[in-house]
Amino acid sequence: MSAPAFAPVSAVFEPAAVGRTVRVRGWLQKSRSSGGILFLLLRDRTGSVQVTGRRDTLGEAAIEAAGHVQVEGSLEVEGEVAEDRRAPGGRELRARAIRVVDAGEPFPIFTEQTEEFRLDHRHLVIRDPALVQTFRVKAQLLAALREFLAREEVVEMTPPVLTGNSAEGGAEAFRLDYFGKPGYLGQTAQLYLEALIVPHERVYALTPSFRAEKSRTPRHLTEYLHLEVELAWCDLDGLLDFLERMFVYVVGRVAERCPAELAALGRPPEELRAIRAPFERLTYARALERLAERGFSVAWGSDLGTAEERALTLESAAPLFLTHFPRELKAFYMLQSASDPRTVEAADLLAPEGYGELVGASCRETSIDRLTERLRATGVDPAEYEWYFDLRRHGNVPHAGFGLGVERLLRWMLRREHIRDTTPFPRTPSRHTP
Ligand code: 4AD
Ligand code: MG
Repeated sequence: MSAPAFAPVSAVFEPAAVGRTVRVRGWLQKSRSSGGILFLLLRDRTGSVQVTGRRDTLGEAAIEAAGHVQVEGSLEVEGEVAEDRRAPGGRELRARAIRVVDAGEPFPIFTEQTEEFRLDHRHLVIRDPALVQTFRVKAQLLAALREFLAREEVVEMTPPVLTGNSAEGGAEAFRLDYFGKPGYLGQTAQLYLEALIVPHERVYALTPSFRAEKSRTPRHLTEYLHLEVELAWCDLDGLLDFLERMFVYVVGRVAERCPAELAALGRPPEELRAIRAPFERLTYARALERLAERGFSVAWGSDLGTAEERALTLESAAPLFLTHFPRELKAFYMLQSASDPRTVEAADLLAPEGYGELVGASCRETSIDRLTERLRATGVDPAEYEWYFDLRRHGNVPHAGFGLGVERLLRWMLRREHIRDTTPFPRTPSRHTP
């Protein structure tokens, strides 16, 4: 008779499992020996189970081998499921056979090591329960975003990440040698998505974006996952309505699918479920007044920094849209407002609780003259954008879009102090390994 197939560790905790023989495999979390019995805590993707091994059942050699497995060594166990009140979860697996797959070397990761050491050993530290939970939530967040976009009939596109010009500003683009010509790592897929809306009308891309900003802050990465949406026939109100629906949908889905992870990481799922549209829409001009009341004097035309963004949202459990920024503060492609030509039809979505900008959104400028003027003003040669101007020459329509930083959203959602803990292998100005 062949051995039973491997079951997930969670099968041990199924109501009817007591008395059954199961085979599991995984990694050793802890090991001790007491009263001649070997106690192993075995972990797989579904959870942990206590395994007990007795000399009389397993034999001297097998006990010896299993007892030498290091933390994070790997093994296979066949045994009988038994009730035991002292074991985690009230069950244990009484081993009939243990096969050591890899006894392993002493595991170098402990809790009290420095952050630098932990980042140097990120390939091992990603087994830490908080990081495991974080990336499970991230996977559900990405799934929820894609579900929402499919429901709204927005089509996923695959724009390039390697480009010949930089869309968000030359200084912050990683430049590389592209067979003797200048190349860049993409900062945004927006311009490509603007080309793709003509045949598809509603498109999105979920791709890495790169920013060569030397910003050592808890919310900047040099590589991040960027969700970008571009919608034809859309104005600013329509875009912000779409963003609100998306936000409420995805936080609700994550709350529904990851309640245990959220609770363990310090975000009660009810707080996500409590978020409701509409979100407040505050113009830049009104934000300056509100900031003045809170003791921040910002002159019209100056950018709002981290401190100002924090002051606007610190006390709030709901996100906030800041709209109609001065034109000079924003990218060349943003549409000049008809009602106040000093401003653009744009909005940033600020996270609740002072976590700062999550989304940059705008209607797109459709006039080639104004695009040219803004490019020149920022020292960029408009000739590089000829292909982009073609989009204004052939079937130009009102359109709008946004970019959302996935790790920034997750950072707020999971109350992480630093954005690097929302991505397995963070890239920051001081680190691109391992
Ligand atoms: O505001 P940004 O620069 O907007 C754009 O790139 C637009 N072209 C997007 C579009 O309309 N298609 O970036 C969009 C978002 C920010 O709101 C922020 O959440 C995130 O990308 N982001 C970063 N996330 C992590 N680290 C960084 N260094 C980031 N820079 C931007
Ligand atoms: Mg922005």
